Amino acid sequence: MAKILVTGGLGFIGSHTVVELVNAGYEPVIIDNLSNSSPKILDQLTKIIGFKPIFHKIDLCDEHAVKKLAETEPDVEGIIHFAAFKAVGESVHLPLKYYRNNFYSMLNLLDAYAGKPINFVFSSSCTVYGQPDVLPVTEDAPVKAAQSPYGNTKQIAEEMLKDMIAAGSDYKVVSLRYFNPVGAHDSALIGELPIGVPQNLVPFITQTAIGKREKLTVFGNDYDTPDGSCVRDYIHVVDLAKAHVAALKLMEKPEFTGYDVFNIGTGDGSTVLQVINTFERVTGVKLRHEIGPRREGDVEKVWGDVTKSTNKLHWKTELNIDDMMASAWEWEKYLAENPLG
Ligand code: WQD
Repeated sequence: MAKILVTGGLGFIGSHTVVELVNAGYEPVIIDNLSNSSPKILDQLTKIIGFKPIFHKIDLCDEHAVKKLAETEPDVEGIIHFAAFKAVGESVHLPLKYYRNNFYSMLNLLDAYAGKPINFVFSSSCTVYGQPDVLPVTEDAPVKAAQSPYGNTKQIAEEMLKDMIAAGSDYKVVSLRYFNPVGAHDSALIGELPIGVPQNLVPFITQTAIGKREKLTVFGNDYDTPDGSCVRDYIHVVDLAKAHVAALKLMEKPEFTGYDVFNIGTGDGSTVLQVINTFERVTGVKLRHEIGPRREGDVEKVWGDVTKSTNKLHWKTELNIDDMMASAWEWEKYLAENPLG
């Protein structure tokens, strides 16, 4: 069974990817420093996959620890690299924390497994596009000046990986540019676990609906969109997790060489108000919300062209916005009875 290192494997997307790796017959090896995840997720994963996955508590910024990992786990065939700081707003106030963590961790990892034919999947983001000039945005759209140090770390990391391949590395690399991951596993045993006040829309919606937040503020309704609120391409986290398995399968083909990049979204956009309406319709819960001022740094509208992912990655989404809202709500209700934070 091929061993796949999953850095950040106890996080939101990482944990869902661990499940899909097992479903696809891989053996996940979870690496996490627990800086933004709970060790209880390991127990939750055990309930879903039926065995306790290998877990190493390691800070990837610790060069010695990563070298030791490569000695402990030498027969790794693939690496899915999620581990990174990802709070857009925080990155503006603490840029060096983001550059240090997000680059040191990836560079230590790449060095530790250098010289081996590793299939490397990099967790990138649609944030590299900024506000695209043309929608839906394709992978060859110009990468705009990042709107945050967080976004910059994704752009620069992609360039680092391309340069490493160009220099003749034994790695193969696929970067996946995620749009907006939301929802939860249908067991409601894993899902998004924000620390403190959620920055992202959907956890704020579900926490408002369950009574943890007084009301949701819609950040602006004066944009050039169907109802004035921002448009995003929301993708179910389970579909997103499956895209990582597809990326490994693609790199396992002898004809795949070097580096490639794919948009991982649904190809459709939804406004904030449409998401709220869908949540209310699907759950039957009325959501207290009001319109507030725009949030600095928000792009007006972005959704992905997923033609390349469909045709070359042989992957496309199967779940819709109703599934996303229903599963996010089931997870929030589970958390209310079983605090995991
Ligand atoms: C979505 C929409 C908000 C909260 C960011 C990163 C991206 C990825 C996902 C890491 C926007 C609106 C939100 C609220 C609101 N992160 N909103 N009220 O900003 O599109 O993407 O998170 O990989 O890289 O850039 O996601 O969920 O924060 O916002 O009206 O209380 O919801 O203005 O239009 P975003 P988001």
